[in-house]
Amino acid sequence: MSQTLNEATVLVVGAGIMGAGIAQIAAQAGHQVLLYDVGAGAAAQAITKLSATFDKLVGKGKITAAAAAESLGRIRVADRLADCAAVGLVVEAIVENLGVKQQLFNDLEGVVAADCVLATNTSSLSVTAIANGMQHPERLVGMHFFNPAPIMQLVEVVSGLQTSPTVAEGIFELSARWGKVPVYARSTPGFIVNRIARPFYAETLALLQEQASTPSVLDACLRAVGFRMGPCQLTDLIGHDTNFAVTQSVYAANFYDKRFVPSLVQRELVDGGLLGRKSKQGFYDYRDGATNAVLIEMAAPESLPRAHTIQVHGSGAVAEHILAALDRQDYRYEQVTASDWQGLAVDGAQLRLTDGRTATELGSEVAVFDLPVRFAENPVLAWAISGRASERWAQTAPVWLQVLGFAPQAIADAPGLVVARTLAMLINEAADAVQQGVCTEQAADAAMKLGVNYPAGPFEWLADWSVGAVVELLTHLDAYYAGERYRVSPWLKQKQWLTA
Ligand code: NAI
Repeated sequence: MSQTLNEATVLVVGAGIMGAGIAQIAAQAGHQVLLYDVGAGAAAQAITKLSATFDKLVGKGKITAAAAAESLGRIRVADRLADCAAVGLVVEAIVENLGVKQQLFNDLEGVVAADCVLATNTSSLSVTAIANGMQHPERLVGMHFFNPAPIMQLVEVVSGLQTSPTVAEGIFELSARWGKVPVYARSTPGFIVNRIARPFYAETLALLQEQASTPSVLDACLRAVGFRMGPCQLTDLIGHDTNFAVTQSVYAANFYDKRFVPSLVQRELVDGGLLGRKSKQGFYDYRDGATNAVLIEMAAPESLPRAHTIQVHGSGAVAEHILAALDRQDYRYEQVTASDWQGLAVDGAQLRLTDGRTATELGSEVAVFDLPVRFAENPVLAWAISGRASERWAQTAPVWLQVLGFAPQAIADAPGLVVARTLAMLINEAADAVQQGVCTEQAADAAMKLGVNYPAGPFEWLADWSVGAVVELLTHLDAYYAGERYRVSPWLKQKQWLTA
C-alpha cells in the first residue's frame, strides 16, 4: 500500500487555502499533482499563486530555482474529475459541508480505481459520517493538515468507524515522508487539537464573564507559561466568528455537554461584528491611533519587607523556588514540609499556591497565587486576596511575591486563578481524549505542540505538576461552580488511585 502511495499521482480537490498548500507539499515530495476545483479558473489561479510562493522560497534560499521549477511543473489543473481516473490518492479540501463532501466521494468512487486511497482534510466533520454511503468506506481516512499547511508540521490521521487500519497506516507513513509529524486520531468531535484546545479559550472567556480580570492581564499570565499569544490575542487573530463556530460545533457534536458550552462574551463580539484583527476591533483595538490597556507594573519595593516569623510550606518545585529566593535575600525561615498547602506564611498570614479554592474560602489573612510554570526572570503571575483580609496583608502580599521573583497581577478572587485552571482543564480534556481512545498521550502532546504551537504538551505539564494536585484543583472548581464543566476525567481519577 505505502509503496503505491509513495509513487501515486495525487489529486487535490479544492484549490483554496488548504488545497493549494497540500498540492505544494505533495509536489515538493515528488508526486505528480492534479488540482481540481468547481470554481471556474480557481485551480489555475491557485497554481499562479503557488508559482509566486515558489519564487519567494527561492528568494529566501530555502529551495533552489531548479527544485522550484520541477515542483511547480508537477502540478497541473484537472478540468474534470472524470480525467482523474489514474490517481492513487485523493486529498479533499473543499467546502466544510457534509452533504457536499459525501457527494464528492460518491462521484470519485465512480472515477478512480478500487485501490485509490481517499483522504479528507475536514477539520470538524465526522470521517465516519463522510464515509456513509460510499461503496468502499474503508478507504476513506482523515488527513487533517493545519494552516498554513506547508509550514505546520502536524497531520492528524483520522480513522472513522470503517476506515481500514492499512489505509490509516499508509497515510501516516506518507505524511512522514512528506516531512510532517503524523499522529493517529479517532474520528470524534474536534479530533485532537481542536478538542483539547477548547479550554485555552474557554477559561479566559469564563474569567472575563465573571469580570475577574482584563484581556491584557489574562493574556500576559498565559504568555508567562510560554504560549506565544494569550487567548484574547489569539482569538482576535483567528477571528471570533471562526473560533466561535468551532466551539459551537464541538459543543453541538457532544450533545450539548456543558463542558464545551460557548461563551456569551465571545458571542457578543461576534454579534457586534468585533471579529478581531480582520475587523480592526475585538478584545483589542487595532484601529489607527488606538491604545490598549497595558499591565499595571508594581515598582520594586524600596526596602525588603520584614517579618518575625517566616515559614515555607510544602515541598516540590514551588517550595524550592521560594527557598532559593529567600536564601538569596538572606531571610531566615523555617520549613514546614509536612503541610497541606504550599507557599509562604509571614507572621501567620498566608500566601498560598492556588489549590482551586478562593482565598476568601481559605481564611482571612490569606492571599493565593497562580501556578508558576516557568521560573523565568520576573514572570507575570496572577494573585488574589481574601475578601476578609486586612488592608495591611492586601498591601504586603504582592510585595512578598516580588521578593519571590514574580511580577504580581491582582485579579478578582476567582478559584484556580488563570494558569492553574487553564492548564488543569487542558490536561483534563487531554485525559478524556486518551480515556476515550481518541489518541495516545504522546500523540496529544505532539499534536498540541505542533498543531497550535503550545510550549509543552498537556501530559508534559502533568508530569511536572502532579495528578493529585490537578484532581484536587478540578474538584474544588467543580464544587465551586457546581456544573458539568469541571468534572474530573475518569483517566485522572484512575491515575490518582494507581499512584496513591
Ligand atoms: P477555501 O474556501 O479556501 O477553499 C475551498 C475550495 O473548495 C474553494 O476554492 C471552492 O471553490 C472549492 N470547492 C467547494 N466545493 C467544491 C466541490 N464540490 N468540488 C470541488 N471544489 C469545491 O477553504 P479552506 O480553508 O481551504 O478549507 C478547505 C477544507 O479544509 C475544509 O474542509 C476546512 O474545514 C479544512 N481545513 C481548513 C483549515 C483552515 O485553517 N482554513 C485548516 C484545516 C482544515
